[in-house]
Amino acid sequence: MISSIKEVDKSFSTSLSKDNECYEAVTAALDAGYRHIDTAELYQNEKEIGRALKEKMDAGMKREEVFVVSKLWNTRHHPDDVLPACQKSLDDLGLEYLDLYLMHHPFPWARGDNLLPINADGKAEHSDIHFMDTWKEMEKLVDAGLVKAIGVSNFNISQMEEVLTNGRIKPAVNQVESHPYVTCNRMLEFCTEKGVVMTAYCPLGAPGDLKDHGLAVLEDPELKKIAEKHGKTPAQVCLRWQVQRGVVVIPKSLRAARMVENSQIFDFELSAGDVETINNLNRDGRVYKWEWSKDHPQWPFNEKF
Ligand SMILES: NC(=O)c1ccc[n+]([C@@H]2O[C@H](COP(=O)([O-])OP(=O)(O)OC[C@H]3O[C@@H](n4cnc5c(N)ncnc54)[C@H](OP(=O)(O)O)[C@@H]3O)[C@@H](O)[C@H]2O)c1
Repeated sequence: MISSIKEVDKSFSTSLSKDNECYEAVTAALDAGYRHIDTAELYQNEKEIGRALKEKMDAGMKREEVFVVSKLWNTRHHPDDVLPACQKSLDDLGLEYLDLYLMHHPFPWARGDNLLPINADGKAEHSDIHFMDTWKEMEKLVDAGLVKAIGVSNFNISQMEEVLTNGRIKPAVNQVESHPYVTCNRMLEFCTEKGVVMTAYCPLGAPGDLKDHGLAVLEDPELKKIAEKHGKTPAQVCLRWQVQRGVVVIPKSLRAARMVENSQIFDFELSAGDVETINNLNRDGRVYKWEWSKDHPQWPFNEKF
């Protein structure tokens, strides 16, 4: 239920991390017992993940023991591009099926292999495809057996309603940014009522990118007090809080010791008071606002969730 992988760097440069970094991180995560791997075409690491998975499967791990998630990127929303994009992720990962395939965002970008069609004025080049037309193609991936389940990411409640009302297959998951500074309590309530799983990305508030976003979640004094009381770290408290309220968490770390730390969250329980304190830290403080698409009608963050 927890993933640990490398993500594209904050500046979205194509020179990602050092060779083998993701392969080594995923190998260490699998060794530490992680079985949920979250990736995406955007992260450009699917081949490295595939290599790590193959080695473990050659050594006896069964395909069904691991839960692999990938995402359809914004430049692949055109109905003709959905199947090839999914097939490319499968080929790179060396898998016959994905456990879950998510639409990365509700807003579509200009079609093509430039994954970041951003103008000099800092605006994304959009296309006019509606996410429901993309969703209908994703449903066909389930029919074809290429993916076990489909879901969405960065969708607000109105957009979720639209997919639930007009889709043939219910989204299994909405993956949204969530940590103590953006609790997404309304989204969680909505997902719980509709039987959709909420997954929290940036569950630690992406401390590695702190210089860019300034949200020092793990330094929060209230969070530190709760952590001290339980003999745990602020990171463990962030993860425990989510798991305790039924949210799936996908923290990332390249360090084996932190992977172990982040998995040691099942031997303590937060009190109702702790939970209330954490919920009250909410300030709609997002790391990822995708402001390149702020003027797109489907930019999800005009609605609070
Ligand atoms: N759907 C989307 O639009 C979307 C957007 C962003 C991310 N995601 C997914 O969510 C995953 C996690 O998000 P994220 O990486 O942005 O944020 P995150 O998991 O909140 O933070 C990762 C950072 O935390 C550090 N870290 C990990 N464990 C720690 C600990 N116990 N104590 C202190 N620092 C710790 C890591 O550094 P070290 O590596 O040095 O340990 C890394 O810099 C991504 O890998 C990706 O799969 C999805």
